Amino acid sequence: MVKKKQSDFSRGRMSGQGGVTPGPLLEMITGFWITKTLTIATELGIFTQLSGRGMTLPEIARSIGIRKRPMKMLLNACVALGLLQKKNNRYRNTPLSQVYLTKEKLHYMGDLILMMGNSLYERWGTLKEVIINNRPVLMEREDREQLVEYINAMHGLGVVQADKISVLIDFSSVKTLLDMGGGSGIYSLVIAKTYPHLRAVIYDFPEVCAIAEKFIRQFKAQSQVSLCKGNLLVDDVPQGFDAVLLSQVLHEYGQEGCISILRKAYGALNQGGKLIINETLLHDEETGPLPSVLFSLNMLIHTPKGSSYSGKRIRGWLQKIGFVDVKVQSSESLLALVIARKPA
Ligand SMILES: C[S@@+](CC[C@H](N)C(=O)[O-])C[C@H]1O[C@@H](n2cnc3c(N)ncnc32)[C@H](O)[C@@H]1O
Repeated sequence: MVKKKQSDFSRGRMSGQGGVTPGPLLEMITGFWITKTLTIATELGIFTQLSGRGMTLPEIARSIGIRKRPMKMLLNACVALGLLQKKNNRYRNTPLSQVYLTKEKLHYMGDLILMMGNSLYERWGTLKEVIINNRPVLMEREDREQLVEYINAMHGLGVVQADKISVLIDFSSVKTLLDMGGGSGIYSLVIAKTYPHLRAVIYDFPEVCAIAEKFIRQFKAQSQVSLCKGNLLVDDVPQGFDAVLLSQVLHEYGQEGCISILRKAYGALNQGGKLIINETLLHDEETGPLPSVLFSLNMLIHTPKGSSYSGKRIRGWLQKIGFVDVKVQSSESLLALVIARKPA
């Protein structure tokens, strides 16, 4: 993980009042400058242009088709952010941008960045209205293009996290896995690749399954990974699984929806089967960590009842349903695991 550099704002170079400086406030109010800088640089394909080579300002400006004045400012901002380095008048990617921001690489996170910096940026503009009315602002109909953008973005985030899960969790005795709300299916695809004996079923809405189909073909995983179309809240889910994965789904729903989905997971599992929840968890006091409380606001903006939840809250639901051996693996990151078992 990249160590967060202290900025001039928070380093206390500014004169303060009553023993405190306004540095943290200035850092907070300029946060969107960073989001937008990263988004535009990604959108213009700067990191992809610089993949594996150094270029001068005039070379980059010419190849991207942007004038030198704005390009210089953008490139220099990227250097200050640790996304580029500049030596002998040549700009190059840093390891961070080379791995995650160059297109066609397996770990490319550009789709997630573009969704955050464009659609979500616009959505967050409605926060005041959402807070006052306690409901999301209706935007123009979410069309297929936006759905594809969303599933691709989740795929980009999932590539990194799925690697982690397939290492953290031992699937060697799992023959069948149900990936509930599987999205692009990236978790199933990575786990299936690591465990060739395993068969996975991705369960999601029909329009999402159509997108997942493309990824299954791309991973050449047709013999291991299949699709089941449906709505978790109203339709039956298939049964007889050794493990169920529920990754980044619960936060879309309120307590009632979550319990209903967890009951479906219980029903889908064989006796002794394992439930793996991958979520953005709050501390038990629900006042942190920062990414999780902000993510909760994000769900307020997007859903009528969604929220981040604490491990304690999810544990309570699981125990009520009958799950045993509930383990909450807390994390400061956006992704944390809750693992439970259906009694044998
Ligand atoms: C945030 S995405 C997570 C995708 C994937 N599990 C991951 O972690 O990358 C949530 C997924 O759950 C699916 N989902 C949400 N509610 C659902 C429901 N009621 N029935 C079926 N799928 C649902 C969405 O369509 C979406 O693909």
